[in-house]
Amino acid sequence: MKEAVNHSWTDSITSADIVISVMVIAALIVLWVSVLLLRVVRFYVKESINPTPFATAEEKEQRRLEEEARRALEKNKPTIWSKLMQLKPIEDEAELVMDHQFDGISELNNPTPAWFMALFYGTIIFGIGYLLNYHVFHYGKSQEEEYVAEVQKAADDKIAFLASPENAASAVNENNIVLSKDAAVLKNGQALFATRCPPCHGDHAQGLVGPNLTDEYWLHGGKIKDVFKTIKYGVPEKGMIAWEKSMSAQQISDIANYVLSLQGTKPAGPKAPQGNKE
Ligand code: HEC
Repeated sequence: MKEAVNHSWTDSITSADIVISVMVIAALIVLWVSVLLLRVVRFYVKESINPTPFATAEEKEQRRLEEEARRALEKNKPTIWSKLMQLKPIEDEAELVMDHQFDGISELNNPTPAWFMALFYGTIIFGIGYLLNYHVFHYGKSQEEEYVAEVQKAADDKIAFLASPENAASAVNENNIVLSKDAAVLKNGQALFATRCPPCHGDHAQGLVGPNLTDEYWLHGGKIKDVFKTIKYGVPEKGMIAWEKSMSAQQISDIANYVLSLQGTKPAGPKAPQGNKE
């Protein structure tokens, strides 16, 4: 047996490391504060030796104008939104007018917005990738292949599940079911049969759309395992429902035992035999 080794980077940190880290941080803070103090002192000394004169009214006006010009420049910068929408400022409209007028209304030749072009080229690039992936190099599975693989996997899982003795013991299935004549089982099976099966097999299983279940003739086998299997998976193409979707394994087991207990009951109006005699 190999021991699980679980090293984490926190394991190697000692208290000395922590003390050193704290001291380094403290030293950095002290350094920063002293630099700030030094700058204040320098400014103070400089101003006392050679004081800056107060700004005159003209200088103030000059600064205000500069500031205003800077602001105006900033305002004209296109925003992300107008870039994305490829919006042109209203002043440029004259350049956009096309030689196409109707009823005094003229058309503008606005460019296609950037987001739309990105989407457009994006779909082309995606399409090429998709084509190469699924149809040229077959790296990816197509929908049908994925479906088939999933169904196959589910079938394999099911076989594996039923093959495992633990699962087999906890759930009845077509491999481990045994015939039971237990009164409680048959009673339960009868109740289940009465609510689900008569529309097709008749009140007494004499057969209607579905075959007579009381005779010795079987289409899909008359052993308990066969009957269980037919009820569980159904015969969908022939109209017999797969009951595993709406009944538990135990219920199907009870019903299968009940069906076999009806052998030879000879109900009135039996449907003609179907299948092989067993
Ligand atoms: C919607 C109609 C329908 C219902 C409801 C129905 N069955 Fe069926 N059943 C059929 C048909 C049709 C067949 C014949 C399939 C074939 O031709 O392969 C059949 C066949 C069977 C068979 C196999 C008979 C043989 O000869 O091998 C069994 C067992 C069976 N049904 C049991 C049941 C039980 C139990 C129920 C109730 C839980 C039930 N059925 C509900 C239509 C139905």
